[in-house]
Amino acid sequence: MSMERNKPGHRKLLPPIKIGNEKIQSGLFLAPMAGITDYPFRVLARRYGAAMVVSEMVSSQAITRNAGKSKRLIYTAGREYPLAVQISGSDPTLMAESARIARSYGAAFIDINMGCPQRKIVKTGAGAALMKDECLAGNIITSVVAAVDIPVTVKIRLGWDGRNMNAVRIARIAEDCGAAMITVHGRTRSQMFSGTADWDSIRLVKQTVSVPVLANGDIRNCRDAWRCLDESGADGIMIGRGALGRPWLFKEIACFFETGLASDPPDLPEQYAVASEHLDRLIDFYGPVTGVWIARKHLAWYSKGSRGGADFRRTVNAAETMEEIRVLLENHYNRLVHETGPYPPDAPASGDHP
Ligand SMILES: Cc1cc2nc3c(=O)[nH]c(=O)nc-3n(C[C@H](O)[C@H](O)[C@H](O)COP(=O)(O)O)c2cc1C
Repeated sequence: MSMERNKPGHRKLLPPIKIGNEKIQSGLFLAPMAGITDYPFRVLARRYGAAMVVSEMVSSQAITRNAGKSKRLIYTAGREYPLAVQISGSDPTLMAESARIARSYGAAFIDINMGCPQRKIVKTGAGAALMKDECLAGNIITSVVAAVDIPVTVKIRLGWDGRNMNAVRIARIAEDCGAAMITVHGRTRSQMFSGTADWDSIRLVKQTVSVPVLANGDIRNCRDAWRCLDESGADGIMIGRGALGRPWLFKEIACFFETGLASDPPDLPEQYAVASEHLDRLIDFYGPVTGVWIARKHLAWYSKGSRGGADFRRTVNAAETMEEIRVLLENHYNRLVHETGPYPPDAPASGDHP
């Protein structure tokens, strides 16, 4: 246990959250990240304390065309239950149909993407562009809610830009149309990922709607989690980049909220076991060629900040087979343990961003 204490007598727990009729163990969520929050990563995040995980966004056009790749995005198995599948698009009928498909694949929730800032998405009227068309946003939510018998949630930003901060209005529309939870990334679309997330502005959304509100953006350690909840007044938090190469961050935060003390990060043998299992799962899930390709970036995140990490990343990026990568991974962690003992010397207890 590190000696980092939260404020005694203040908010001791991250309480359970009710989304529609579903009770979620705590307000600790893994954010959707395209190219990252696939089944292998979500399983690890769940094991390490994420109470709920969200899939990568899946295009409603692709999934209703029966594109094989989209089906892999929404694959789920009991181990990670409850999964929210996030759908994106701008056509209410296609969005409803894709929600039905996701439901039939085992999704426990449908999340509607209204925050993606990418040009190729917004130019089709999807993602954050929906925040500029409140009427269409409402139609999409209404038709998705009518299409499925599971809760529908919405992920938004603060607005399109500094002059159009309509998160509160969109949240009210979402609630009126039947959304069961709203996640707010504390940036506008025009900010993309720049600047810092404005947790305080999320409070306005929380004060407006009675469905649960999650705060999202720039939560990288226990202290951030605490401050974000305090500033936003949100019911829970959603964490994305802070969990890259550190699926155990959820456990550290859960421990901090329960006991007032941040748990230490796992020792090096456990970190090796997690990274190695992640590699194996990627290879199982995608096959050896794509699996190795995707594993490179995850292993790079696991190695961030570790001694010899830069060399490790260089060699992993040049390696082509899973056997080579396994050996490199094992050697890297063996070297770390040999040089420093099982505990990472400079690993921050509250989990600073890698
Ligand atoms: C690589 C990457 C992919 C992302 N993909 C999605 C996505 O598919 N759907 C979505 O709603 N947000 C997506 N996001 C945004 C995150 O869910 C989150 O809102 C944002 O990163 C801020 O939270 P963080 O600071 O905890 O990462 C993505 C972010 C990143 C970095």
